[in-house]
Amino acid sequence: MEKFVICGGKPLCGTVSASGAKNAALPILAASILADGIVTLYNIPRLSDVFSMCDILISLGCDLTFSDGEIITVNTKGLKNSEVSYQLAGRLRGSFLIMGPLLAKTGYVSISMPGGCPIGARPIDLHLKGLSALGAEIENRRGSVVAKAKKLSGAKIYLDFPSVGATENIMSAAALAEGTTVIENAAVEPEIVDLANFLCAMGAKISGAGTDTVKIEGVSALSPVQYSVISDRIEAGTYLVAAAATGGDVTVKNILPDYVKPLTAKMTEMGISVEIGEGSIRVNHRKPYHSVDVKTLPFPGFPTDMQAQMTTLLSLSEGIGIITETIFENRFMHASELARMGANIKVTGRSAVVEGKKALTGAKVKATDLRAGAALVIAGLAARGDTEISDIYHIDRGYMDMADKLRQLGAEIYREEEH
Ligand code: EPZ
Repeated sequence: MEKFVICGGKPLCGTVSASGAKNAALPILAASILADGIVTLYNIPRLSDVFSMCDILISLGCDLTFSDGEIITVNTKGLKNSEVSYQLAGRLRGSFLIMGPLLAKTGYVSISMPGGCPIGARPIDLHLKGLSALGAEIENRRGSVVAKAKKLSGAKIYLDFPSVGATENIMSAAALAEGTTVIENAAVEPEIVDLANFLCAMGAKISGAGTDTVKIEGVSALSPVQYSVISDRIEAGTYLVAAAATGGDVTVKNILPDYVKPLTAKMTEMGISVEIGEGSIRVNHRKPYHSVDVKTLPFPGFPTDMQAQMTTLLSLSEGIGIITETIFENRFMHASELARMGANIKVTGRSAVVEGKKALTGAKVKATDLRAGAALVIAGLAARGDTEISDIYHIDRGYMDMADKLRQLGAEIYREEEH
C-alpha cells in the first residue's frame, strides 16, 4: 500500500492541464459495446476506475488496446458474455453503467449488486425502474441483478431524483429500443451531454440532453466511431481550490469554465480572485478569504464531488461556513481526518459547521474515499509541517498523476510505500 508524504506551506504556482473526465469516460466506455466494431476513445484518463471498467469489457469478450497518451480502442466484435462477476462489479459503483448497454445489445445481463460505498447506500431503484419501463424483466438472484428483454420498447420515464447513473443507463438502453423514450426529471450534468454526444456520433437519435427532458428515438443499430471525452471538471476544481488554500497562483487549462461555474462563483463570493479564460481558469490569491455557506445540489448546483475539497477551503477561511450535503447521506468522513490537522468542523446529520482557522498543522491521516482523499491532499499542501496520507488507492481512482501535477506546481509531495 502507498501513502502520500507532503511537506506543506508552499503556495502552488504555475499551469496544469485537466485530464479526461472519469465520470464521462466510464459511461462512454460502457456504451461503446452498443456498436459492432472498433470504437476509438481519446482523452480517457489512466485511472484505476477506468481500468476496472476496461476489465469488465474484456470479461464480456471485447478486445481493448491502450495506446500512448490516453487512447483506448474497444473492439466489440468478440462480445459474447453477459455476466459481470462480483469480483469485477464490486470494484466500483460505476460498474453498474454496463447494465443498460449490455441489456440493449444482448437482451440479457447479470451483474452483482454494486453495493454501497463509504459515502452512501447508493441504491439502484431508479436504474431498474427505467429499464423495466423499457420492457426488461428484472429479478434479484443471489445478490445479482438479472435483466432480460427480447426487445426493448420506448417508454416515458419520470425519475424521482435526477440520478446521473440512472439517466445514463436508460439513455444508453433506449438508443436501441423500438420507438421513442422520454426521460423526465433527467440529470443535466455535463457528463450526460457527453454521453449523448457519443451515442449520437454512433448514430443514436437523442435530443434534450443537458435539460431535464431527454428524448431518445430508438434505432436498429449503432456504428463504431472515434470520440474524445470532455475534461474533468472535478479534477479542475480540485486544483483551483488547492491554489486558493495555499495562497498561490494557478491556471488550470483544458477546461470549459461553464462546467466549473458553480465552484468558481462560490470562490468569487469568498473574495477569492478567479479569472475566467477561453478554455482555462486562473486562481491567483494570496490574501485571506472569508467563509460562505455551501449546499450541494444536482448540476448546475454546487457539485457534491467538490464538497470535501470546499470543506478544507472553509477550514482556512475567515469566519464560519455551513456546508449542507443534500446528495449523499455519509459524505463528511473527511471531517474527522481534517480535525487531526486542527480543523474545527462540527458535523450534524447532513450539515457541517466549519470555523475557519489561520492555519492547519501537518499530521498522519487516512483517505476514506476518493474526494475525502483529495480534501486531505489540499489540507496537507496548505498546512504547516509534514502530512502523511495513507490509503491513497482511493485517490488513484479519480486523479491521474496527481503527485506529478502538484510537483509541477511547486508542491513537495511524494508517493512512498506504507510500511
Ligand atoms: C455519479 O454517481 C458520479 N459517479 C458521482 O461521482 C457523483 O457524486 C454523482 O453522480 C452525483 O453527481 C459517476 O458518474 C461514476 P446519482 P451516481 O445516481 O450516478 C440516489 C465521484 O466522486 N439514487 O446521481 O451514483 C443516490 O442514493 C463520484 O466521482 C437513488 O436513490 O449518482 C444519491 O443519493 C462519487 N436511486 C443520489 O441519487 C438510484 O437508483 C445521487 O445519485 C440512483 C441514485
